[in-house]
Amino acid sequence: ERNGVQFAVADLSLAGFGRHQMRLAEHEMPGLMAIRAEYAEQQPLRGARIAGSLHMTIQTAVLIETLVALGAQVRWVSCNIFSTQDEAAAAIVVGDGTAETPTGTPVFAWKGETLEEYWWCTEQLFDFGDGLGPNMILDDGGDATLLVHKGAEFEKAGAVPQAGEEDHLEYRIILDTLRRSLASDPQRFTKVAAETKGVTEETTTGVARLYKLAKEGELLFPAINVNDSVTKSKFDNKYGIRHSLVDGLNRATDVMLGGKLAVVCGYGDVGKGAAETLRGQGARVVVTEIDPICALQAAMDGMQVVRLEDVVEQADLFITTTGGTDIITAGHLAAMKHNAIVGNVGHFDDEIDMAGLAKVPGVERVTVKPQVDEWRFPDGHAVIVLSEGRLMNLGNATGHPSFVMSNSFTNQVIAQIELWTKPGEYAKQVYVLPKHLDEKVARLHLDALGVRLTTLTKKQAEYLGVDVDGPFKPEHYRY
Ligand code: NAI
Repeated sequence: ERNGVQFAVADLSLAGFGRHQMRLAEHEMPGLMAIRAEYAEQQPLRGARIAGSLHMTIQTAVLIETLVALGAQVRWVSCNIFSTQDEAAAAIVVGDGTAETPTGTPVFAWKGETLEEYWWCTEQLFDFGDGLGPNMILDDGGDATLLVHKGAEFEKAGAVPQAGEEDHLEYRIILDTLRRSLASDPQRFTKVAAETKGVTEETTTGVARLYKLAKEGELLFPAINVNDSVTKSKFDNKYGIRHSLVDGLNRATDVMLGGKLAVVCGYGDVGKGAAETLRGQGARVVVTEIDPICALQAAMDGMQVVRLEDVVEQADLFITTTGGTDIITAGHLAAMKHNAIVGNVGHFDDEIDMAGLAKVPGVERVTVKPQVDEWRFPDGHAVIVLSEGRLMNLGNATGHPSFVMSNSFTNQVIAQIELWTKPGEYAKQVYVLPKHLDEKVARLHLDALGVRLTTLTKKQAEYLGVDVDGPFKPEHYRY
């Protein structure tokens, strides 16, 4: 804590560098800046205490300052151990002040956290001082939401269970975190759950967790699925990855992509962007899928759809985009050719079996540079694994660029305003934003690209059965 601002970041002296980048980012984030202007007087988020868990990048810094500009009090952590841009974290803490007298927003995030540090940071979200917790959550991947739900569950039971032998290392750390919390305040997360007006969730994986909780009747507060705004998943997931995947590959390895055989596992929104960008570089791209519809899409887009086993020995590059588990096993890694590059852009690290890789007898890990590891097998061949199997577009680069994140984050801010200002209208379910707001987000980004939209005449609108001002498509339309 310095000058009354709590924080845990790498280096506050990076704030100036962060601020310069934020200034440039603001120009590329017309949606967020328009929302700031629209609501400056109204202050719709006054009274909101938002716990935010989302990659602490420059774009997120502009989001945080937008929430604050609308009246919210905010605490922030990153939702991934490698995704923080330290200069962005510093700029948010420093605010209008200096490193000695910061005046900004509390951030607990730095690039290269351990898992223990990651969960310690996440815990810091829930203490706004004076005995107050958050009353809103903004999540990416659902870790903040998970901590509240698990915490409240164990508080009700009065004890945190012991981890089983088979439990994932990260789950053990979560249990330890909650055990500490229960000892210091046995009602902490129960209170947070009761106070929280809702959560707005950024990504596919976090949304899947929310629908599961809602289905089981265990969701403790209303949720807005930001991911499935059209202006989020059909833009950020696809066009964002189209930019940041190749950025990450280049910064990590600088390997020539043209001519290489690249496997993209999963052909959903992220997979489509990944395949497109690799093809753009001249790579020969093949796809794996489990869903016949997405497999057929890949085939119709001109890519061969294969099983991983068919190409594991020939491919030069493997990118997982499924949001699933066990996609690339230790056996696959052992079968790859020398210096094959392996990276994941799905939300969690279990798409690539890193734990299994570490257990291969005689395998040796040589760190080339941060977030780039060569794993040498006893037979002499090696594979190059990026960001330890975690989101490599954020670990090896700086994630998606500002313009596309402006679309995603404008949805986030609108969703926060919805849940905060209309608590009576939302039950403990998962909602998507109405289409007119989705269209509004898109509209806010047209001028910057010189788009001249055609306006329907009254006759045309009647003919189509829509309003002149939209919404233009029925709910079931898929874009
Ligand atoms: P999606 O559901 O549209 O696509 C995933 C695809 O993977 C689906 O088509 C599914 O059929 C396929 N799939 C599942 N299991 C498979 C398997 N075993 N083998 C082959 N294919 C399989 O989801 P979306 O939106 O593309 O997101 C994917 C992941 O990426 C999620 O974890 C999401 O949270 C994350 N994400 C990451 C971003 C980043 O910046 N790195 C940005 C946005 C989302």
